[in-house]
Amino acid sequence: MKNKIIVTGGCGYIGSHTVIELIDNNFEVVIIDDLSNSSKKTLDRIHQITGVKPIFVELDLKDASKTSMVFSEHKDAKAVIHFAASKAVGESVKNPLKYYKNNLYSLLNTLSAQIENGINNFIFSSSATVYGTPEVLPITEENKTQRPFSAYGNTKKIAEEILEDLINSNDSFSAISLRYFNPIGAHESGLIGELPSGIPNNLMPYITQTAVGLREKLMVYGNDYPTPDGTPIRDYIHVLDLANAHVIAVKRLLLQKQETALETFNLGTGKGFSVLDVIKSFEEVSGINLNYEIVERRPGDVPQLFASTDLAKLKLGWSANKTLNEMISSSWQWEKKLRDGNL
Ligand code: UFG
Repeated sequence: MKNKIIVTGGCGYIGSHTVIELIDNNFEVVIIDDLSNSSKKTLDRIHQITGVKPIFVELDLKDASKTSMVFSEHKDAKAVIHFAASKAVGESVKNPLKYYKNNLYSLLNTLSAQIENGINNFIFSSSATVYGTPEVLPITEENKTQRPFSAYGNTKKIAEEILEDLINSNDSFSAISLRYFNPIGAHESGLIGELPSGIPNNLMPYITQTAVGLREKLMVYGNDYPTPDGTPIRDYIHVLDLANAHVIAVKRLLLQKQETALETFNLGTGKGFSVLDVIKSFEEVSGINLNYEIVERRPGDVPQLFASTDLAKLKLGWSANKTLNEMISSSWQWEKKLRDGNL
């Protein structure tokens, strides 16, 4: 019998790559997604890659009673991986209530429904944004969290606090919170990848969309930061390395190997690259001269953020192994396929 895992947001960017890893590791997957920022086509792509079509439920997790019903139909599930959330930082600053409602109601309904049905393992899709502006780098999980600049970021911080309260009140419940740094890249098949709706907020899809002519030029937000080339430094991580960490975390919960009922891990490579490093690497990989311009800083950007990866290495036995060029090359292959109309 395969262990069943419920994956909310399983048609999304990180969710779909994780579903593939789960299937490859012999799990049965139930995807719950409202398709608000993803496509049903992803299910066919997952089928094409793995030979398996996961069970799919189209559901808005803000609907508490329907959520409860769906979970009761899958009460044999062993764990929930919760990706479903809105994630556009800029939009969340303009429309905070949408973010608090969507990300927190969905979380609360998911947690309530799973506990009601005796599904006591939970993996949370958190973010390095909970560190705010760090004083010491690389940043370890021991560092205090700070109130993030955006409502989106704050939903991640609040969610972690909700989990703390929950595990303190419930002896049967276990959770792992995974704090992602900057996920980029796509599956090596070129069949799934990041599909931003509208104008991308993030650097990588903006670069690839500029290179295919969908955007006129990339705006580089500031080159007067206290970093070697003046542009901000981030820890970019391949989405497949991230996906793999989720499978390891699920196995850890199922084998009851966790040391505390709530564990938190950074998921990054531990290496920082500047915006100009990423552009240079993209130009190398693609052979294209990218049209870009240095403009004003973007509000809320921190100068540098990269992970200490020691804890994940020690406790999960996990570390990222894809290079920046591999990440960028896979993002580029995905973008080209998408624009060639091959998908
Ligand atoms: N950047 C540009 N031009 C763009 C887009 C981005 O210069 O068009 C720069 C940003 O100023 C920043 C860097 O590229 O210096 C990375 O920006 P991203 O928007 O790709 O990523 P962020 O680090 O701002 O945010 C990411 C995730 C968030 C998460 C955060 C955690 O998108 O979800 O990391 O630190 F909260």
